[in-house]
Amino acid sequence: MSFSFSPGMGPRGAIDRFGQTAAEGRLFDRAVVLQMLVFIRPYWRRMLVSIVLMLIVTGLSLLTPYLIKVAIDQYITGGDVAGLGRMAVLIGLAYLALYGATATQQYLLGWVSQRVLADLRENLFRHLQSLSLGYHDRTIIGVTVSRVINDVAAINDLLTQGLISLFGDLLVLAGIVVVMLSMSTRLALYTFAVLPLMAVLTYLFSSKAKGAFRLTRERIAAVVGFLAEHINGMRVIQAFAQETAVQDNFEDVNDANRQAYVDAMRLSFIFLPGIEFLGILSTAIVIYFGGRAVADEQVTLGIMVAFLAYVTRFFQPIQELSRIYTTMQSAMAGGEQVMRLLNTKPAVLDNPDAAEMPNVRGEIVFEEVSFRYREDSPEVLHQVNLHIEPGQTVAFVGPTGAGKTTIANLIPRFYEVTSGAVLIDGLDVRNVTQQSLHRQMGLVPQDPFLFAGTIAENIRFGRLDATDQQVREAAQLANAAGFIEALPEGYETKILEGAVNLSVGQRQLLCIARAALVQPNIFILDEATASVDTVTEVLIQEALERLMTGRTAIIIAHRLSTIRNADKICVVLDGRIAAEGRHEVLMGQSGLYQELYEKQFML
Ligand SMILES: Nc1ncnc2c1ncn2[C@@H]1O[C@H](COP(=O)(O)OP(=O)(O)O)[C@@H](O)[C@H]1O
Ligand SMILES: [Mg+2]
Repeated sequence: MSFSFSPGMGPRGAIDRFGQTAAEGRLFDRAVVLQMLVFIRPYWRRMLVSIVLMLIVTGLSLLTPYLIKVAIDQYITGGDVAGLGRMAVLIGLAYLALYGATATQQYLLGWVSQRVLADLRENLFRHLQSLSLGYHDRTIIGVTVSRVINDVAAINDLLTQGLISLFGDLLVLAGIVVVMLSMSTRLALYTFAVLPLMAVLTYLFSSKAKGAFRLTRERIAAVVGFLAEHINGMRVIQAFAQETAVQDNFEDVNDANRQAYVDAMRLSFIFLPGIEFLGILSTAIVIYFGGRAVADEQVTLGIMVAFLAYVTRFFQPIQELSRIYTTMQSAMAGGEQVMRLLNTKPAVLDNPDAAEMPNVRGEIVFEEVSFRYREDSPEVLHQVNLHIEPGQTVAFVGPTGAGKTTIANLIPRFYEVTSGAVLIDGLDVRNVTQQSLHRQMGLVPQDPFLFAGTIAENIRFGRLDATDQQVREAAQLANAAGFIEALPEGYETKILEGAVNLSVGQRQLLCIARAALVQPNIFILDEATASVDTVTEVLIQEALERLMTGRTAIIIAHRLSTIRNADKICVVLDGRIAAEGRHEVLMGQSGLYQELYEKQFML
């Protein structure tokens, strides 16, 4: 009997430390199980068959020792060889049926649980895509990934090894007790003399196990968290030559994990052989007292042999129970996390009566907009008023942290305003569907994010049904075609994760191409820095001029030329629009803009 030290046991519910929701690991959580049932429901027929088969397996495994008893008492002792032959065939058939039922039951259960898992992951991913950026801002990516992978897998254990086998094991236990008592009450009571000892042992184990296994989950979470963070920051570790210090830290974390596992393992290696010992003790009791009872002709030999078989079977589920115990714990913890995630409501939801956004002309109005990212975080925008005419190019300037990106985030309603309203063409963005709104916007984010895929795929992400020709045109419009065509593999060049094989400027050009492909009515560009080489700078500038004509453009730019030509410049300061107007006008009113201008551009 092996204890579950399978890889499955550890990292389940891991990383919870980072998710701030400690996995207490309740043994049975009704809410979780009820919600799981919703996912099982579509497959209830197979599940039912599986449960029926499990009952058959239970019955058969109770029946076989009884058949052996009959074989001994009626046919061997009676010397009925023909009857014995028939009995042997019957026993053989019973075992065959047991095998067949077990195999079918396991297959069905596996089939259902894989379906449930796939459905759960599909649901989780759909849900993740619907969750507002606010959720993704405050959740560590590794935690979310761990929900979809580890916690869902823990639920799989619950389905395949937990609930059903727990049910089956308890049935077998109860059945054995009943059968033994009815065969010979006295001998049964002698055999059960070890039960109090076993209860004590099990109690001691489970009370200690809870803490020990929780500790292993916490420690493995620390290892995973450490790895994720430091692999991510490898560049910084190497740049600051901190490899040795980081290695030392990792060794500490790693060692703490090893220690926790050894402790948990020791516990189960005391418990499991303990149960085994009690099993052997019971066997000895059956042999001694049973043997004497046979000699006194109080029980038949067949009963004694059947008892020996039942005793062996009796301790099997008890050992199983301790394994199921830990499985259930982590499955419930995992299930709780998954359900919590599934039950998280997106902060930004389409109104039930939200309309499709009609073709956008591009008027954008902020009415007294105040905004905070979270209820408990400070207000970032204070009563911002803004009026952008269709087709205008508006540049936002201001020190970092002033709120420029935040203003840009509110136009596509990535976040919900705390008070006030954002109107596009006179329609409150809360009253139109997010998708219809987003489809008409071309966004170049501050972090020029690209997927690991080819260049063509990344540009096409703007509009998936675009032809190759349209992709190339967008690249030309964005001035990206030049560098792409110079690459040996052109549009089919693979972009690595994090786009490390492209320069910052190239990334930005690709992001501009992606936005250009949308042919948006509102174009939003949030530039990280001006730190691109002068050649790329000119390319970007040209691309922007082409893109800005004929549509509303919001540019958070650091380039003088873009800003100078803007129809309007908004100076953002401490969450307010401190000044607005054309470049010449603002320069005329000595003060803020002039100061910024000189600091940022004249250096
Ligand atoms: N996702 C976020 N969650 C919480 N606070 C944020 C988030 N993004 C920005 N902030 C805060 O909002 C303020 C304005 O940030 P931001 O709009 O990014 O400034 P800018 O783009 O002008 O540099 C800053 O104080 C920043 O710390
Ligand atoms: Mg910004």
